[in-house]
Amino acid sequence: MTIETVKGETYEIRDPTLKEEGLKTMQWAESRMPVLQLIKKRFEKEKPLKGVRIGACLHVTKETSQLCEAWLAGGAEVYLCASNPLSTQDEITAALAAKGVHVYAWKFMDAEGYYRSIGNVINSRPEITIDDGADLVSILHKLKRGEVDEEIEIVKQVIGEDTDFIEKVIGGAEETTTGIIRLQAMADDGALLYPIMATNSSPCKNLFDNVYGTGQSSIDGILRATADLIASKIFVVAGYGHCGKGVAMRAKGMGARRVIVTEIEPHAALQAVMEGMEVMPMKEAVKIADIIITATGCKNVIRREHFEVMKSGVTVSNTGHFNVEINIPDLESLATEKISIRPFVEQYILPDGRQINLLGEGRLINLAAAEGHSPEIMDMSFSLQALISEYIVKHKQELKELGGKVVQIPSEIDDIVAHSKCEALDVELDTLTPEQERYLASWRVGT
Ligand SMILES: NC(=O)c1ccc[n+]([C@@H]2O[C@H](COP(=O)([O-])OP(=O)(O)OC[C@H]3O[C@@H](n4cnc5c(N)ncnc54)[C@H](O)[C@@H]3O)[C@@H](O)[C@H]2O)c1
Repeated sequence: MTIETVKGETYEIRDPTLKEEGLKTMQWAESRMPVLQLIKKRFEKEKPLKGVRIGACLHVTKETSQLCEAWLAGGAEVYLCASNPLSTQDEITAALAAKGVHVYAWKFMDAEGYYRSIGNVINSRPEITIDDGADLVSILHKLKRGEVDEEIEIVKQVIGEDTDFIEKVIGGAEETTTGIIRLQAMADDGALLYPIMATNSSPCKNLFDNVYGTGQSSIDGILRATADLIASKIFVVAGYGHCGKGVAMRAKGMGARRVIVTEIEPHAALQAVMEGMEVMPMKEAVKIADIIITATGCKNVIRREHFEVMKSGVTVSNTGHFNVEINIPDLESLATEKISIRPFVEQYILPDGRQINLLGEGRLINLAAAEGHSPEIMDMSFSLQALISEYIVKHKQELKELGGKVVQIPSEIDDIVAHSKCEALDVELDTLTPEQERYLASWRVGT
């Protein structure tokens, strides 16, 4: 499917006339993201990002629009492209373009459009990069290293032959687990050229966004795509990390008859068992599964040997960052027919008549078929991102000296977000008495 786009001086999007719808949806998100609004108000007064160019490669959703507004309020110039070809909300791009964000994204973009959009963001010579999956950082580094591949060729058609765009970058931040893994690999190889703050590793991100955000929104994606009943189903979750825990918990809560986890790591497997889930190898689980979802960040978790023994009618989906967890070429090569049976559902017919339903092209189902995480969750993740952007500007020199490292978020930033979210939710905490503080700091008192 080729999507027609509209190009302006500061955007390439699906349809600018969706602006009004987008503005209303932005308002909806705004009313559900109170912590980020507080930061935005302060940014409006203090302008901590004045004149700073932020290049962001994120899922372009209503929640992201609120982060962009906070950046704009802080005085930044914002350049935004999509971090996934299916996750963009077209009405939001229209509203963002009208608000002065330079935005290059549309739903169902092809690979050429995806990398062209990254090229447009890079062309701004960003001083801060904000990534979700590390595609922006990886392209910037490939340019600097003079590497050439199809993606780089597309980017070069936008930016021309000058490839030293990385020189301007002060620092960056990374939103997701897979991005952190890629960036840490770059740092270990000595290839990373500037510091990246590990937003995903902060408690206010991965304990909430990955668990409760992915838990609810992945089920939402499966339901919007299939309209299936979860109750009575045998539900298989590959990977019992942060995301897998959330998905398994919500599947159980919705009445799945059995929730089965597949794992490669003993602690995670034991946690699943103690939470009342079954654990078994994928090759056994697929024989009985009605619904399967991968949440591992790994590749080929579901492959030929699994498709060969799946039950007819099964739905297979992924909520991990990249569309590599399900080996789709294996499925394509086994099938005799492929039917687009509903939006976001491709039905593959195997030679023996079995039907395998693949959701959302194997891309993260919560963003492909639903709207991603709820604004209440992204309030925490994006408050971190806003504060981290400010931190990068304030600590420019320190970060420069640090060089190409993956850097943990200072706990003070995470604490601000946690306390503000408690206040917003009317969650009151107890305070340690001086006696308790002394007790907790001392080693002298025993039995
Ligand atoms: N859909 C979303 O909105 C969303 C949100 C956050 C993170 N993510 C992505 O989801 C993925 C998982 O993130 P996470 O934070 O849960 O990571 P995590 O590291 O906490 O958990 C991954 C789990 O998968 C297990 N695993 C790895 N390979 C496996 C395999 N081959 N078979 C079975 N289990 C395997 C690991 O042992 C681990 O327990 C990443 O790609 C991340 O970027 C998606």
